[in-house]
Amino acid sequence: MGLVNRKIVLVERPKGRVSVENFTYVEEEIGDLPDGCVLIEVGHLGIDAFIRTTLNEDSFHQGAQIGGAIPALGVGVVLDSRFDGLVAGDHVFGPLGSQTHSVMPGGFMRKLDLSIAPPNVWLGALGLTTGLTAYFGIIEVGRVKAGETVVVSAAAGAVGSLAGQIARLRGATNVIGIAGGPDKSRFLTEELGFTAAIDYKNEDVAARLDALAPNGIDVFFDNVGGSILDDVLMRIKEFSRIVICGAISQYENMESVHGPRNYLKLAERHATMEGYAVFHFSDRYAEAETQLAEWVRNGELVMREQIERGVENFPRVLQMLMTGGHHGKLLLAV
Ligand SMILES: NC(=O)c1ccc[n+]([C@@H]2O[C@H](COP(=O)([O-])OP(=O)(O)OC[C@H]3O[C@@H](n4cnc5c(N)ncnc54)[C@H](OP(=O)(O)O)[C@@H]3O)[C@@H](O)[C@H]2O)c1
Repeated sequence: MGLVNRKIVLVERPKGRVSVENFTYVEEEIGDLPDGCVLIEVGHLGIDAFIRTTLNEDSFHQGAQIGGAIPALGVGVVLDSRFDGLVAGDHVFGPLGSQTHSVMPGGFMRKLDLSIAPPNVWLGALGLTTGLTAYFGIIEVGRVKAGETVVVSAAAGAVGSLAGQIARLRGATNVIGIAGGPDKSRFLTEELGFTAAIDYKNEDVAARLDALAPNGIDVFFDNVGGSILDDVLMRIKEFSRIVICGAISQYENMESVHGPRNYLKLAERHATMEGYAVFHFSDRYAEAETQLAEWVRNGELVMREQIERGVENFPRVLQMLMTGGHHGKLLLAV
């Protein structure tokens, strides 16, 4: 038998909470490599919130197919190449999926420059769905300025933990993170330099926002939506900016999304609420990567990684992401 690919595939679309029963584990022999393609041994997969949305029937992102591997971004090493731009031994980044080996058109893959950062960092601090997302959300959409008060939701996760730190690096003086549990509050204030944290699972978010931002909020970087967005909207300043990065509280209930009840505050406060998709900034990725790499090198930007192991654990680790069982960037070493 030749080289075997071990993978997790979708057997049914989850209704509500994602369950391990929605997936199964399969092994298959890897065939001949088609012209223009590369065979990649997958190293680490980023376990990202967008993966959950690909499991829904009408996913905005390219959806997972029944019987197919689950879309996931990853880093790996080229084992064999029939593509001109890549050779065996190259480290690459791309949509590798929930499997140990991936056969991809070479043009879909990006060759990594390991002199800038090791492979995992290209998923985290320099990652498309993490560092770049936080960078453009805070700098271009939120337009954070010196002296401002910035609130970040899902603040102890991958995007949120970087968004709060980038806000601080841009001169925000009051950076408040919202996350679940006392451990995450300590992580935000003691390890990441947030000014303060709100434990939304055990504290009254509205009362804590009143105490921590008595003069109101300039920028809200929202990853969560739902009632947290409503609590913040009630406390925005004039000319504030609400950045809709995501709404993870809604991803397991897409048939009846809970929109913001307090949106009239936008008119009262002459505020803006703006969503964005990171790939619309593709012409500026190089600029963001250079800045993020410099902050990481100087120790000004901290990306905590949590690494789980084994491709067969992909469903359990996706559940972990949705229920917040991690700090920082959640990775799966397949
Ligand atoms: N706009 C873009 O281009 C773009 C690109 C990438 C990602 N995103 C968005 O960025 C956000 C973060 O994604 P990520 O991959 O970095 O994941 P992550 O933040 O590392 O993990 C998700 C976190 O969400 C929190 N959470 C889950 N359910 C929640 C609920 N009902 N209420 C409050 N918090 C909840 C959990 O933390 P707790 O323990 O604190 O609950 C969990 O850690 C997502 O909304 C994603 O869609 C947007």
